[in-house]
Amino acid sequence: MTTPEHPDDFLHDLRRRSAAEDGVFWVNDDLLAVFEPEAAQRISRTNWRGFVMPDRGLDLLRGRRSPVVPWVHVRTAWLAQLHRLADVSHRAALTDRMRQVMDARLGERVDLVTLAQDTAIRSLLPCALSGLTPRETEWIVRDLDQKLLRLIDRSPGDGPAHRLRFAAVQARAGLVVRRVLRARAAGRRPRECDLADPFVDLLPQLGMDRALNVVTTVLTAIGGPPGSAAAAVLYEWVRQPEWARRVTAELGGLDTAAFLEAPTKAAPLTHRFVKETLRMWSPPLLLVRQARQAFDVGGITLDAGRGYLMSPHMIHRDHRVWKDADTFDPDRFLAGAPHGPAGRDSYVPFGWTPKKCVGAALGTFQLMALCRLMSTRYHLTVPNPARITMAFRFAPVPQDFHGVLTPRRPSGSGPRGQHSPHGT
Ligand code: HEM
Repeated sequence: MTTPEHPDDFLHDLRRRSAAEDGVFWVNDDLLAVFEPEAAQRISRTNWRGFVMPDRGLDLLRGRRSPVVPWVHVRTAWLAQLHRLADVSHRAALTDRMRQVMDARLGERVDLVTLAQDTAIRSLLPCALSGLTPRETEWIVRDLDQKLLRLIDRSPGDGPAHRLRFAAVQARAGLVVRRVLRARAAGRRPRECDLADPFVDLLPQLGMDRALNVVTTVLTAIGGPPGSAAAAVLYEWVRQPEWARRVTAELGGLDTAAFLEAPTKAAPLTHRFVKETLRMWSPPLLLVRQARQAFDVGGITLDAGRGYLMSPHMIHRDHRVWKDADTFDPDRFLAGAPHGPAGRDSYVPFGWTPKKCVGAALGTFQLMALCRLMSTRYHLTVPNPARITMAFRFAPVPQDFHGVLTPRRPSGSGPRGQHSPHGT
């Protein structure tokens, strides 16, 4: 097969072939698409069983083995830290950081994709790596921004000079991470409640290069999907005014403490809105993985070392898996809805065990907090939302998505109202 030039064509082609070939087919000589829900779960479970971190570069050069660090230990450390980050005070602080980024753009005509990405990255960064100086923060954010620009196809340039600048920013960001880990280990910086901290204690086993990889994995994870999902929430917010009204009605009168304590319980309709947005517009669109052993997938043999392609998006838009797959309807997540998920493997916005996204709960909270800010603090004006289209890059990206955020007037009041820090 030849690969079409444009990413939108590529995705449409994959969709067409997936429908014709029951979700499992060769994309090209080296890549097997696995878009059938059960096969995707099975291959992920088997492929990553017993996965350990690769040996350190230095040890490879010296021809010796590094201390074995099972990936499950890394995930357990992340999950324990994320449990702490789910308390009310951390959730309030995250919402406040989102508010600060959005407040800074009030009244301006903004690119809403950039605003969503900025809001997500800057509010999540302290969960990943906290206690940075403003300068260190800017190096990390610049690195995440440049990687994102490349992924959403808005790179300002190419060529040697551009590549050199890119590598220099990336190296600077890496130095920041190393410096923070080293300083914490030596007691020169305080220990923090963030996703990097557990690896300070593991430095002797991991070595600095593997610790850097672990922290970079988290930074990359917060640099892409959360902001893309936030842009998709804003997109559906303006395209589905009736749903925006219902979400606002639910969140408007809600007690802050109840929301922060258990958002999905306190605001089930908003949770459905967020779930349906993630079903329609799951980032990243495609995940390329390498087979660590030979597999039989639906009668097709995939040899060790060859690649396979996974996609929550393909499963979520498969008409054999979802009724009215291309229709936005959060009520499909009501218990017993006839157009609800067909099975346990049919809704996978956060991927598959044992590599499933560790930040699923935090990511969901952040999207619900965005809805809450939109319901209580801001009013978003986007001219003619019906004309906005989604392009498929590394994630769905709304095109020419500009608008103006203004302070929301409290209902029934005349002049523009006062706003509390958490948008109550
Ligand atoms: C709505 C927001 C998010 C979405 C849609 C999302 C989606 C995903 C997906 C699809 C994967 C790949 C899973 C697989 O390979 O099967 C992933 C991995 C990951 N995500 Fe997220 N994610 C989100 C937010 C977050 C947040 C907020 C964090 C961290 C605080 C995070 C941290 C990670 C990490 C560390 C991995 C790699 C896990 C591993 O390799 O074991 N994600 N995410």
